[in-house]
Amino acid sequence: MNTQTTDNILEQARAEISAAADLDAVEACRLHWLGRKGVVTQQLKQLGQLDAEARRSAGQQINQTKTTIVELLEARKQELQAAVLQQQLEQQRVDVSLPGTQHFRYGLHPVTRTMNRMVEIFECLGFQVATGPEIEDDEHNFEALNFPAHHPARAMHDTFYFGDGRLLRTHTSPVQIRALRAQPLPVRVIAPGRVYRSDSDQTHTPMFNQLEGLLVAEKVTFADLKGILQQFVNTFFEQALSMRLRPSYFPFTEPSAEVDIAWHKDDGSVSWLEVLGCGMVHPNVLENCGIDSERYTGYAFGMGIERFAMLRYGVTDLRQFFENELSFLEQFA
Ligand code: PHE
Repeated sequence: MNTQTTDNILEQARAEISAAADLDAVEACRLHWLGRKGVVTQQLKQLGQLDAEARRSAGQQINQTKTTIVELLEARKQELQAAVLQQQLEQQRVDVSLPGTQHFRYGLHPVTRTMNRMVEIFECLGFQVATGPEIEDDEHNFEALNFPAHHPARAMHDTFYFGDGRLLRTHTSPVQIRALRAQPLPVRVIAPGRVYRSDSDQTHTPMFNQLEGLLVAEKVTFADLKGILQQFVNTFFEQALSMRLRPSYFPFTEPSAEVDIAWHKDDGSVSWLEVLGCGMVHPNVLENCGIDSERYTGYAFGMGIERFAMLRYGVTDLRQFFENELSFLEQFA
């Protein structure tokens, strides 16, 4: 064993280790040089053949070589690990200048919100929600509500007919008939829902929503009607609003009235806005539902939900509610 040999070993090992391309290759080098059958291990085994003097110096050299190879292996290992980490960091770099993921804010449609609000207020006043079909028959939509055949009031409704006697309900008032025929007295219901009329401009759409109200009991008066409506508009608009009733006509109420509220505009002026129709339930309607009109009286009212939504949210074109423009709807999120 001479210096030449250990120098050779070291030189070869250095070359091989620095050429190791990954951690597996480094491990292969370790086995090749330092493993149980490795080059250095073989050399150590041969020491026994030397005499004491030569064995001491050769042993020192081989151990020195071994230590150096261990250091070289470790250094290469760390180099490769650092390279892997560097590569990972580069791949996982976050580009903060990229646009973020879009999260849409969502919420209930303004008409739904308004309807829910109205229902909640009337529920607090003791009314229960009643429903009826949107595809109605002439009997519920007109006949039982005291619209005789060929009565001119029918023409006001621009009805969509199916041609087989059925029609799209033109108002929520047919729910009055259904509730009165189905429920024991006293009846105190509201009926929110879609109604249809063949009509379209800035303030009319072929489909819109109404909220019907009906109370039938003993000794119900017009003062009860006026009181509940005043309470409702004050609660809905969160302010004391002046209200005005104008005489009107509906076949199913007598007397009938239209209700205006004093609306304060942004420019400071005040104008009367019509917000609903109402009246005392016509005796013929009660009789059509088998109710003794001498003993029972009642009031009814019907209001356009979109109308209230427009006022509450300052929307000027009714059609915006149905165009589904995101920029419009997002304001209600
Ligand atoms: N149904 C009427 C309409 O659609 C409103 C109304 C309801 C009027 C109840 C009086 C009583 O115009």
